[in-house]
Amino acid sequence: MPASWDEVAYDYHKTVGETGDSYHRTYVNPVIFDILGNINGLIVLDLACGQGYLSRILARKGARVVGIDISEKMLEIAQNSEKAEPLGVKYIRCNSGDMSEIADESIDCIVSTFGFHDIKEIGATIEECSRVLKSGGKLVFAIPHPFTYARRVQDEEGYYLQIRDYMSIKEIPHPKYKDTEVVAYHRPLSYYFERLFSVGMQIVAFREVTAELSRGRPIKDKQLLAYKREIPGFLVVGLVKVM
Ligand SMILES: C[S@@+](CC[C@H](N)C(=O)[O-])C[C@H]1O[C@@H](n2cnc3c(N)ncnc32)[C@H](O)[C@@H]1O
Repeated sequence: MPASWDEVAYDYHKTVGETGDSYHRTYVNPVIFDILGNINGLIVLDLACGQGYLSRILARKGARVVGIDISEKMLEIAQNSEKAEPLGVKYIRCNSGDMSEIADESIDCIVSTFGFHDIKEIGATIEECSRVLKSGGKLVFAIPHPFTYARRVQDEEGYYLQIRDYMSIKEIPHPKYKDTEVVAYHRPLSYYFERLFSVGMQIVAFREVTAELSRGRPIKDKQLLAYKREIPGFLVVGLVKVM
């Protein structure tokens, strides 16, 4: 069955391109690279790599990169870029909940940007991350902060979040592709961390990232800017496998 992301792959590529979109570039990737440190010569798995722009950046930083994704179309774009400018990135099409093509304890670092909240099988994916990582290996992932799924409302003092049901796990229309089959998953933070801790992962970095741009443009509305400075848009977490 084609993955739902196939439907939007080329559209996604238009906004993300070779460098990432403005959120990747300005807010998330600098934090990811800071937590990752020097990856020269390391084997890095880009989990839910999409059209592969980050895999290619990681390869340019000297890593030996494996990118995995469930979407054939996303990987088609990634392979086309690899053909146009070979960087030695190996792409595998699979569900991250079953990465059986990747050997146990063979990966130094796993990176996943804007993937975990889109993956239905996140419990199995976390178990697989622990299986393929070497002991002492790092997992760094970025997701939209779970608060951002709450409704933003405004009163005379400005914007705030109206949270009705934070603890419930919900499949929701993907914020970026509301009129398609693409979905995302709201989960409370404890849902991720209980699973990560149970497979021997320990937190080494926890960054709640605020954004002062909206769709890449400066925000003129003063109340919206004040809100954006207070409510984190993204969460970037680094963990190390200790078992
Ligand atoms: C928002 S895109 C992120 C792509 C890329 N990491 C980036 O930052 O541009 C989410 C990706 O997750 C992939 N995905 C969703 N569920 C997956 C699964 N179970 N296994 C592997 N990839 C999955 C989709 O195909 C899509 O490419």
